[in-house]
Amino acid sequence: MNRVRIKNIFSEGNMGQALTVCGWVRSKRESKGVAFIALNDGSTQDTLQLVVPAETAAFNKLSGCNTGAAIRAEGVLKESLGKGQKYEVAVSDIEVFGDADPEKYPLQKKGHSLEFLREIGHLRPRTNTFGAVFRVRNVLSDAVHDFFQGRGFIWVHTPIITSSDCEGAGDMFTVTSLDLKKLPDGCNGDIDFSQDFFGRRAYLTVSGQLEAEFLAMSLGDVYTFGPTFRAENSNTSRHLSEFWMIEPEMAFADINDDMQLAEDFIHTLCGRVLEKCEAEIAFFEQYYKNTSINELRILSEKPFVRLSYTEAIKELEKSKDKFEFPVKWGLDLQSEHERYLTDKVFKGPVIVVDYPKDIKAFYMRQNPDGKTVAAMDVLVPKVGEIIGGSQREERLEVLEVRMQDMGIPLENMQWYLDLRRYGSAPHAGFGLGFERIVQYITGMSNIRDVIPCPRAPQSIRF
Ligand code: 4AD
Ligand code: MG
Repeated sequence: MNRVRIKNIFSEGNMGQALTVCGWVRSKRESKGVAFIALNDGSTQDTLQLVVPAETAAFNKLSGCNTGAAIRAEGVLKESLGKGQKYEVAVSDIEVFGDADPEKYPLQKKGHSLEFLREIGHLRPRTNTFGAVFRVRNVLSDAVHDFFQGRGFIWVHTPIITSSDCEGAGDMFTVTSLDLKKLPDGCNGDIDFSQDFFGRRAYLTVSGQLEAEFLAMSLGDVYTFGPTFRAENSNTSRHLSEFWMIEPEMAFADINDDMQLAEDFIHTLCGRVLEKCEAEIAFFEQYYKNTSINELRILSEKPFVRLSYTEAIKELEKSKDKFEFPVKWGLDLQSEHERYLTDKVFKGPVIVVDYPKDIKAFYMRQNPDGKTVAAMDVLVPKVGEIIGGSQREERLEVLEVRMQDMGIPLENMQWYLDLRRYGSAPHAGFGLGFERIVQYITGMSNIRDVIPCPRAPQSIRF
């Protein structure tokens, strides 16, 4: 159809140019024999004003151009006399692809609540808010690859269906082709998964880390960027059952290299959004007030505060705020504690390092103190944890003892232990929850509003 995207018209349009635009009508009004249509095509935050004079063929088609209609318009680009816009199109012809019944189309001009928009997940990308969220998400995805490719990391694709439980938390979705009405009996009343499709029990992955580790132990520096699944029954504003994670893994690296990579990564992502999505961020700043161009500018440069878990506990013990959950060395930090550190004490991102080993996963490297592991979490204001990472235990005996202590069966993990038998080396990595960074940057308060099709307990409609 040779259409021009509205974004391109605003960035490189020439006055007097004849053009064709396609999009969805945001609004239509008529005055003194001229009609005005605000058209959006998803490429940009702004709408393009179409001016339809009464004497044109287009004018007769206006009855089919209600809010929500998909149309094609032909015309000439002109300087706009209206306020707030540089360009408009003087339209000569319109083709209506599909009108939308004004009595029924759910997205009328008034603002809708985010809760209501979640009920119409298939139409919400047509709103300013969700258009902006998904464009920011796109820019961030691209920036992820740019960042790692620029540093020589190799993008690897780890499996979605797996037989290993990386986090050992047990909240995994089972993948099966067994007949659910006739499950084969195994011993002790269990199901006999040897009769299942893969000959053993399989799951949707909770993390690509274990596979990324063997790829790093041959390719050097690698990263993954893919969907991960958690069957936690967490109905919160920061948990999804299906989310995207970016997991870099570096050979010949320690926990300090890991923290530095995490900090550089977040700086770069914030910087890129500022550069490419200024209109979107300005929109979020104006309407949702949880983010700002200024804040992002600081986030793209300011070094992160680093402190140990032990220091974090001391900070929390000093607090005059009352917490719902207890603060005690050895207990995990709850989101209220994380937020106290980021929002109240340090007023910015914080990296907490060296957590007690008893609250962390089996693969993390034990520190010489015998009590803590070289684990780090990046915490950010309002959202809390966005990155979890560690230096990995590369010493075979230490790892074996640790796995036995935690009751992790060694027989299925021999390939993982092999990496410690043959050419073991220090290595480290982390996982960034992609939706959490989109949330952080856009200031959207619910994680379900930063992914097109959110999956959460009891929620899979769209
Ligand atoms: O801290 P987590 O569980 O770490 C891992 O999975 C490691 N294997 C990563 C690694 O070292 N390669 O998860 C990493 C991040 C969290 O910090 C959080 O941002 C995000 O993944 N995340 C979730 N995001 C949305 N919904 C959930 N249910 C999430 N669970 C974790
Ligand atoms: Mg974590």
